[in-house]
Amino acid sequence: MLSKKIEAALNGQVSIEASSSQAYLAMASWAENQGLSGTAAFLYKHSDEERLHMLKLVKFINERGGRAVIPALKQPGTNFKSITDIFQSLLAHETKVTNEINGVVDTCLKEKDYTTHNFMQWYVSEQIEEEALARTLIDKLNLIGSDKGGLYLFDRDLQGASAPPATKGGQ
Ligand code: FEO
Repeated sequence: MLSKKIEAALNGQVSIEASSSQAYLAMASWAENQGLSGTAAFLYKHSDEERLHMLKLVKFINERGGRAVIPALKQPGTNFKSITDIFQSLLAHETKVTNEINGVVDTCLKEKDYTTHNFMQWYVSEQIEEEALARTLIDKLNLIGSDKGGLYLFDRDLQGASAPPATKGGQ
């Protein structure tokens, strides 16, 4: 049985994962409108994965005797300046998510809830992958600079890429 504190912390994380899914959906749509079809495919997939992260939490909360709260969503930012701006925003967002996850893990330890602590380790690992992937993509974009041919290849490479590679499917 979840304590009220853990239930609230997990529901906070449900909301964060849902907002992440919305944020990446907005980025995917922006990329699609720019003709960056590979980037759009990558971001649509990333958005789907964030929804799976949310669902995993919803199911865990309910299975453990808590009550999952399905949150209202704010409209995400839509004014992106460039593809680099997209991935910088994505990294900034994931860094915030990591801090929030660390906060949940900390609450688990304080509450001596080792089951939830164990469950949250999947999210801890996922964050390492997601932040690393975002940094790699930003480094590539910095190398490409304003080279249109380079951007074309970058976009094409993202077409088949999973997001992120090590924990794909969000399972
Ligand atoms: Fe589910 Fe990107 O954190």
